[in-house]
Amino acid sequence: AKLLVLHGPNLNLLGDREPAHYGRTTLAEIDDALRDGARRAGHQLECLQSNAEHVLVDRIQATRHDGTAIILINPAAFTHTSVAIRDALAAVQVPFIEIHLSNPHAREPFRRHSYVSDLALGVVCGFGDGSYRYGLDAALAWLDRQAA
Ligand code: DQA
Repeated sequence: AKLLVLHGPNLNLLGDREPAHYGRTTLAEIDDALRDGARRAGHQLECLQSNAEHVLVDRIQATRHDGTAIILINPAAFTHTSVAIRDALAAVQVPFIEIHLSNPHAREPFRRHSYVSDLALGVVCGFGDGSYRYGLDAALAWLDRQAA
């Protein structure tokens, strides 16, 4: 199956961005590990990071016709601001898992609200780069259940 990983704004800076919150692993390392994990399970995985809301909205819209089975998305700051990303995810009806490196519930109050959580299959947060690993595990298990 085809998996799509979407990363929101500032995640291109992972590795040296606020390491106390986000760790030392770079985005390239995270993406490589995800692609490897998906390949070993017999799937294909594509990654896209953008600082621009419309690029993420356009990529989500494109999943209507490109065979994407499931999305892993860390909307980053757009989690807390973007009705547009929420609406795009609702429009395409492709199941998705919300990912955060940090635990937004343990930080500033404005991070506690997510515009997408209630539409997600589930949310993984607070485990640094592990959040992506566990999110991929959950996605692979979900795909197995669909195939069964
Ligand atoms: C984040 C949490 C968000 O609140 C923040 O704006 C980010 C990253 C995370 O992965 O922990 O940019 O999504």
